[in-house]
Parts: sequence; C-alpha cells; structure tokens
Amino acid sequence: MNILVVGSGGREHALAWKIAQSPLLSRLVCAPGNPGMATLGETRDVKATDVAGLLALAREIAADLVVIGPETAVAAGLSDALAQAGIPCFGPSAYAGQLETSKAFTKAFADRHGLPTGRYGVFEAAAPAKAFLAGFTAPYVIKADGLAAGKGVVIAQTLDEAEAAIDDCLGGRFGASGARVVIEEYLEGEIASVFALCDGAASLLFGGVQDHKRVFDGERGPNTGGMGTYAPAPVLSDAVIDATRRTLIEPAFAGIAAEGAPYRGVIFCEIMVTADGPKLIEFNVRFGDPECQVLMLRLQSDLVPYLLACAHGRLAEATAPVWRDEAAICVVLAAEGYPGAPRTGDEIRGAEADLGEGVTLFHAGTARRADGALVSAGGRVLNVCALGKDLRQARDRAYAAIERIDWPAGFCRSDIGWRALA
Ligand code: AMP
Ligand code: GLY
Repeated sequence: MNILVVGSGGREHALAWKIAQSPLLSRLVCAPGNPGMATLGETRDVKATDVAGLLALAREIAADLVVIGPETAVAAGLSDALAQAGIPCFGPSAYAGQLETSKAFTKAFADRHGLPTGRYGVFEAAAPAKAFLAGFTAPYVIKADGLAAGKGVVIAQTLDEAEAAIDDCLGGRFGASGARVVIEEYLEGEIASVFALCDGAASLLFGGVQDHKRVFDGERGPNTGGMGTYAPAPVLSDAVIDATRRTLIEPAFAGIAAEGAPYRGVIFCEIMVTADGPKLIEFNVRFGDPECQVLMLRLQSDLVPYLLACAHGRLAEATAPVWRDEAAICVVLAAEGYPGAPRTGDEIRGAEADLGEGVTLFHAGTARRADGALVSAGGRVLNVCALGKDLRQARDRAYAAIERIDWPAGFCRSDIGWRALA
C-alpha cells in the first residue's frame, strides 16, 4: 500500500514513524516532510497547502491513502480535492474544518447542537467587545477567531489587559485571523484533550493526553502551540472520557453530518473538566502537535487499519485501539525567541545518536544543511519523547536524553507532566 503523509512537523514525523511499522505499507512518501521523516521514507518538496501539487503527487505515486497532518491543509480544501479525485483520504473537508479554523463557527455550532461550552460573544469592533466584558469577571478570555498556531489566545488577569488584547487582535496582530474577536467565559478546572476517529458515520475514541501550552515552567508566559505532553493523564478518568464522548464528540459528529459535511478523520476535543463535567474549550480537526507524539508511542495497534477505516467508511467494524501500559512523555525543545520570532540556522549536535532506553526523537522544525549537519529551522525544533513504566521514569529518560543534545540556542520546560506527578 502506498501512503502519502502531508506535513512537516513533529506530529507528522510521529505519524510517519508509526505508519512505517505497519506490515500493510509498501511505499511511504512525505510532503514536504523533514529530515527525520526522510529516514523513514521519501520526501517531496510540495507544501501542505499546495492542493494541486499534492493531488498530482498522490496520483503519481498511486496513493492508496493520503494522511493529512496539519489544519492548514484541511483549511486549504485538500480533503475535498482528494475526494473529488476518488483518492482515499484521512482528514475532514474544509467545511468540517471550520470546527477549528473559526472559533466563532464552533461556538455557534455548539449552540446549534447543544454541546456544553462557556458563554461567549463574537465582535468585529472594539467598542461592543469591550462593553461585553462587563458581563464577566477576571480572568477574561480573548481569542482571535481564526488560525493563529496556538498563539491567538489571551487569558487576561485585568480589564486593562483584556481591552488591550481586543485592540491588539482587531488591530491586525493576527492578520485576517483576528478580524473577529471571540470573548469567552473563563472556565474553571483542569484542561485535557480527548481524541476520536470518525468515518462519516461511526466513531471511535482514540486516546487522551494532557499538554502544557504556556512557554515557561509553572504555566507562565505566553501560550504556544504546546511545550510538552504526556499520557495517560489522570484527570481523564473513564467517567470523564465517557461524558466527553456522549455530550461532545458524538453530538459533534452527528451535527456536522446533519449540516452536510460528514466527518472523516480525527477530532481533537480540548475540554475543561469542570465541577459540572467536561465543557468544550475548542475542537481541532487533526491530531495535536505534540499530543500525537505520545499517542503514537503508546499505540500498540497498527495505525494504518484505523486510518483506512476512516477513509473508507468501515470504522464500525474496527475494534478499540490497544494502548501500551507504559506512560509516554514528549518534551519540546524550542528555539530561543519562540513563541515570538525564533532564532534559526544553528547547528544541533548529538540529536541523531542513541538517546537512551525508551527514547524516541521526532523532528519538528529542523533542516539538513548542505554539509549534512542538522540545523534549527523553526520555533519548536525537536520533540524528545520517551516511554517508561510510569510517568516518572518516562520523564527521567526524556530529560536525560536532552542532556545529550548539544544545541545552546534551544530551551525546554523542565516541568512537563507536573500535574500527574504531583
Ligand atoms: P486554546 O488555544 O483555545 O486551546 O486556548 C489555549 C489555552 O488557554 C487553553 O489550553 C487553556 O489553558 C486556556 N483557555 C482557553 N479558553 C479558556 C476558557 N474559556 N477558560 C479557561 N481557560 C481557557
Ligand atoms: N498542541 C495543541 C495543538 O496541536 O493544537
């Protein structure tokens, strides 16, 4: 079977790594891929948003399956184009993709289909947005409506800060993504992520993870795309997962199908576990990055049959995935400056050597220099991941591995997993 993986981050490296272990695979092509993915299969220099280029590539390699990694490819309509061409695809349509690409769409969708979430308002002008703040108390939650790589959310501790965030967003800080601002009720509780697959009709839970969004230890500093993850997460009890399935995931899949856009792919449901049960923070229409990395490490079952079942509408026949007993952790090594403008082009030494027992390294933002050296080429650069008999061992292994990597311009959080270890 020929499989095309679309994307170039740590998530896609993890997907490619797991797919490469499948006995069903004959040829793996990654577009555009990264130096880590290049050790697993072929890479082709076609961008994740180049729909025509990817369609041509899928035809050229006679792809039996295209796996969409990033939301930008979903938003560009890659799944729609592949469906029209009759090429099986794991990843939802651009319409369903609005569940991630527009927070305003998602909030209205939640209202239409009775999904539990916080109160909210959507505004295109600053004055009514600021007036709306009067209905809440601090902390205030201010979000850019569109995609902002995890950086479009401000949790403001004061009214002044909230008003500044509104001005910032509507003033063009996030470009077109910030043309509308969403103001939300602050939900009290612990945040977690639940994943589920859907083939347009049937759905299947596909694991849970907890992440760390703030850039610095102790949950301080600005939000990022994610500085680390771990699983299993104690907060995701069977009762919480079941309530998430019943009140959020199944109604969302049914709702989007009723709107004419049956969902094919994975949904990433970010919930706040409140005293009243799980409430929706947001949906993402793809695996999380770096949530996917720990899911793939813990997944014992072959991934490919699940991806195919989603693409071909055969998920009802699938059994629940089997997870390893071990705990998994992912620590992100980011480049100085992230989540602002990262410093790039620095050589990274020691990352491709043996990093110790239970450790797997995924590339997120690296490049190969002409002389063969590995260099930094993005904000989040490496994902140092480990399995262990428990989270403590997994964490110790990951941080020991980081000690072996020589990259002075890199940094990481030193407290990934603290909630579960406390
Ligand atoms: P998001 O990009 O929407 O996932 O938001 C980033 C982070 O901000 C989340 O992981 C939460 O920690 C926090 N957050 C977002 N929305 C809310 C909310 N309504 N109430 C409390 N915390 C929130
Ligand atoms: N780590 C959060 C995300 O992928 O959106």
